[in-house]
Amino acid sequence: MKITVVGTGYVGLVTGTCFAETGNEVTCVDIDANKVKKLSSGQITIYEPGLEKLFERNLKEERLFFTTSLEDGIRDAEVIFLALPTPPGADGSADLSFVLNVADQLGKLLTSYKVIVDKSTVPVGTAEKVQAAIAKNCSTPFDVVSNPEFLREGVAVDDFMKPDRVVIGTNSERARKIMGELYGPFVRQGNPVIFMDEKSAELTKYAANSFLATKISFMNEIAVLCEKLGADVDMVRRGIGSDDRIGKRFLFPGIGYGGSCFPKDVQALVKSSEDVQYDFKILNAVMDVNEKQKLFLLPKIKAYFKGDIRGKHFALWGLAFKPNTDDIREAPALYIIDALLAAGATVTVFDPEAMENVKQLLGDKINYAEHQYTCLENADALIIATEWSVFRTPDFHKISAALKNNAIFDGRNLFEGSRMRELGYHYESVGRTA
Ligand code: UGA
Repeated sequence: MKITVVGTGYVGLVTGTCFAETGNEVTCVDIDANKVKKLSSGQITIYEPGLEKLFERNLKEERLFFTTSLEDGIRDAEVIFLALPTPPGADGSADLSFVLNVADQLGKLLTSYKVIVDKSTVPVGTAEKVQAAIAKNCSTPFDVVSNPEFLREGVAVDDFMKPDRVVIGTNSERARKIMGELYGPFVRQGNPVIFMDEKSAELTKYAANSFLATKISFMNEIAVLCEKLGADVDMVRRGIGSDDRIGKRFLFPGIGYGGSCFPKDVQALVKSSEDVQYDFKILNAVMDVNEKQKLFLLPKIKAYFKGDIRGKHFALWGLAFKPNTDDIREAPALYIIDALLAAGATVTVFDPEAMENVKQLLGDKINYAEHQYTCLENADALIIATEWSVFRTPDFHKISAALKNNAIFDGRNLFEGSRMRELGYHYESVGRTA
C-alpha cells in the first residue's frame, strides 16, 4: 500500500519506518527542510533502540522517502497519517493548530479517495474538526479515522511491530477495510484490532495514559504511607500485583512520571472534562501527587545534611525521564537539579544518552561528567533519578572511594537496603523501610 506520514517526529518516524518494514511504500512529509535532508541522506534524527537498522534498510530498499512537499508526498497515497505535535496550550488543552492547518491544506490537494488518519493524541471531537477542515475546500470523497498510538519511548519499535491492540475509530466501512488490511501483518498472533467510533477511539488514548498515570501516583502515595507506617512498598507492590485484576506492571514507585505524554495527556483530559462542566477529581489528585513526588528526595537529602545544603556538591545519575531514551521533557531530574541549585548547592550530572539535551537547556549552570564514576568526584552525595541498566550493579567500592560521604539518595529503588547498609552506605530510597 502507498502511505504518507505527515510529521517526522517521534511517532511519525517510527510509524513510517515500521509500515515500510512490512512492504508498504511510505513517504514522510515534514516542513523542516533540514530534517528532511538529514533523513533522506540516511541520518536518523531521534534515538530509539532498534529503529536505525529498520530505517537504513527501508531507505536503501526504496520503501521509505522524505519530502517537504505535502502535495508530492500525498499524490499516490491511499492512507495519510497525521503525526503532528499537539502541545499543551496556555489553558492545558491540546493545541490543534498544526493538525488543522495540514487538514486545511489537504482539502485543497485531494484528487482521489484517501483515508486521513489522526495518529497524534488529540481531544475528543478532533476527527470531526479535521473532517470539517478538509471538507471546506474539497469535493473528493475521503474518510477521517482516529487511530491513536500506544508506543512507549525506548521500546517503540517492538510496540509498533507487536501491539497489544490496535484501536481504529471510524464509522466508514471503506476506511475500516483499508485500515484492517494495513494493520493485518502486525496482529498475526491474534492481538485485537478494535474498531469503534472516532470519539471513543480518541478518548481511549487519554483514558489509557491517565489510567497508567493514576496507577503510578497511587503507588507513590502508598510509598509515602509505607515510610510513615514502617511497611515496605516492594512487598506491598508484589502483594497486590499478583492479583490479575491489578496486574504487576506500572506499580513501581519513584520520583514521579515525566515525559512528553503522561503529564500533557492527564492535564488535557482534566481540561476536556472542565469544558463539559465535569470535575475529574481523581485526575486532579494524580497531577498533585506527581508534582510533589518529583521532589520527594529533597527533604531526605536536606535532613541528612542537617537542614542546609548550601555549598554542598551533588553527583546526579540519570537525566532522561526514563531509561533508553534521550528525552528530558518533564524529567524529574530537572526539577531536582533546580531545587538543589536554588538551595545553593552545585551539581555534576551523568546520563548515558541525555547529556546533550540537558547541556542545551542548562548550559553552564551545572557540570557534566564523561563517565558515571568521574561524575562522583568531590561530591558530598549521589542522587539517582533514572533507572538506566548501567546504574543497577555499579562498583560500590569505586563509588565510596570517590564520594566525600557514603550517601546515596535513590529515586528509583535500584538497590537492596540491607546490602547497602552492609557496605556502609547511608542509603535512602522511595517507600522502603531499609
Ligand atoms: C506512555 C505510554 O506508556 C504509551 O503507551 C503511550 O503511547 C505514550 O505514553 C504516548 O502517549 O505517546 P512513555 O511516555 O514513552 O509512554 O513512557 P512510559 O514507559 O509509559 O513511562 C512514563 C513515565 O512513568 C516515566 O516517567 C516512568 O519513569 C514512569 N513510571 C512508569 C513509573 O514511575 N512507574 C512505573 O511503574 C512505570
